[in-house]
Amino acid sequence: MTAACFLTIHMTNNWYHKTTIYQIYPRSFHDSNEDGIGDLKGILQKLDYLQELGFETLWISPFFSSPQIDLGYDISNYTEIAPEYGTMDDSLQLIDEVHRRGMKIVLDMVMNHTSAEHPWFIESRSSRNNSKADWYLWRDKPNNWKSMTGGSGWHYAKERDQYYWSSFLPFQPDLNYRNPDVKKSMLDIVRFWLGKGVDGFRLDIFNVIYKDAGFRNNPFSPKLIPSEEDPSGFFQEAKYTMNQPESFSFAKELKSVCNEFGEKILLGEIQGNTELIKNYMTQNGDGLGLVFNFEMLNFIFTARYFSDLIKKIERDFPDPLMPVYVFSNHDRRRSIHRIGEDLQKAKLLHTLQLTVRGVPCMYYGEEIGMTDSKFPFGSAFDPIPHKFKYIPRFFFDLIGLTINRDEVRTPMQWDTSQNAGFSSAEQAWLPVHNNFKTINVEKEHQETRSLLNTIRALLKIRKEEIILQEGSLECIEGLPIGVLGYSRTFGKMKLLILLNFDKQSKEFPLDVSECIFKLNAEDEIKNKAIRLNGFGAIIARITSD
Ligand code: GLC
Ligand code: CA
Repeated sequence: MTAACFLTIHMTNNWYHKTTIYQIYPRSFHDSNEDGIGDLKGILQKLDYLQELGFETLWISPFFSSPQIDLGYDISNYTEIAPEYGTMDDSLQLIDEVHRRGMKIVLDMVMNHTSAEHPWFIESRSSRNNSKADWYLWRDKPNNWKSMTGGSGWHYAKERDQYYWSSFLPFQPDLNYRNPDVKKSMLDIVRFWLGKGVDGFRLDIFNVIYKDAGFRNNPFSPKLIPSEEDPSGFFQEAKYTMNQPESFSFAKELKSVCNEFGEKILLGEIQGNTELIKNYMTQNGDGLGLVFNFEMLNFIFTARYFSDLIKKIERDFPDPLMPVYVFSNHDRRRSIHRIGEDLQKAKLLHTLQLTVRGVPCMYYGEEIGMTDSKFPFGSAFDPIPHKFKYIPRFFFDLIGLTINRDEVRTPMQWDTSQNAGFSSAEQAWLPVHNNFKTINVEKEHQETRSLLNTIRALLKIRKEEIILQEGSLECIEGLPIGVLGYSRTFGKMKLLILLNFDKQSKEFPLDVSECIFKLNAEDEIKNKAIRLNGFGAIIARITSD
């Protein structure tokens, strides 16, 4: 095969389309100085673990100066490090050490809003005629817009006798990107970190970055509860508060700033259906390179569900677009919750995640099957449950909404020692899950067939096989019910992936030349047949002549 042939069959080969992403929530990853709070040095101490596990890109949730009311998603200084997380030197060392291991590091950019304690907002709020008076969105009277968390997003400030807009919570005022000075200041911050060598950014609630210039009222909608596919809710369509055309063009502008520093990742947090999120990416790669598709956070564990999902994604994100496969993050229940905390099912889920055409993104602890905790709303660190403390919890459980995000942010479970090896402080900032004696890195490291070792094996295969990084995907029809199959092709090379979503074993004729991965499965039983036991899977090489 000639190089030219490769070029015609495949158009993108940016590193970030081939990478694997691991999300670190710094507060909960590892504490280096016994204060019970995870920190940058703590991450440094665990880099060997991550390298050995095989993830290539680390996305780190915000660790900048912040009053921590939204635990770092409320930033008061974008170029300073929150003292509990460390120093600027620690962050530079982290960037270096990640690179020294051949890995990439992605920061979390919260561009839509600052903390209300940011000096920009303090000045903006102080009067109607200061130099930052229109750095935020101010109005004499609120219109009908609802915030993403429910209720009016307009908040009164007596200093100006006016209202400011916040898309999320009241202490997170939205910046006014129609003011060129705001845009320039934020792009300078982006340049500051790119200058320090980071490999790109995850973009916090990027879909709300622009609001309608004329502040037109949002139309009525019968929808009460926002969903992943459609974030409108609270009885209005978010027509003028989300996904404005200017947000799509800003994605390009941001990309061009990144291009000044080389090939950088921009990973958008955009809520909406696949049609919509595509607006932020572009065919010629001048928009966001990757966008989360949160729809799949609500996956149903069946072959049918994943077959439909993959087909839809293949239709909506054809090459050179690249989808992201994500099942957990710091805002939603962990994926294992959806599969009854069953580790066998988790192995199958991640076999799919690491073999489909798309960038996998895993949340810390997902690799060992960490589970969610249950905490009372009243004592939460997360501000959201406080807003809803008068609504009984069972209501949210019933509709599947994660209100108290502390529950999915408990400390990483490293071993069986005090605080699961997360911290040697008397108390960790959040209690470690009481299952840490059975679910932890040390234990799973020793068990050949553990979830951790399964993921390690899959990451290794993915790293070695260009077919999995760049190859096209075709679904295979006519398989036994409950079995999902697809092939990945790159040039003349082909891999076949078969996944049994049933607990019953499935045996069927199949001629595979070489199995490179087996999960609860047997090949070469009898003549040219394979058996996938319950929740079993194989990855096999197919040779064609
Ligand atoms: C994003 C973050 C979330 C944060 C919110 C406001 O959704 O993922 O954790 O609370 O934005 O910044
Ligand atoms: Ca600490």
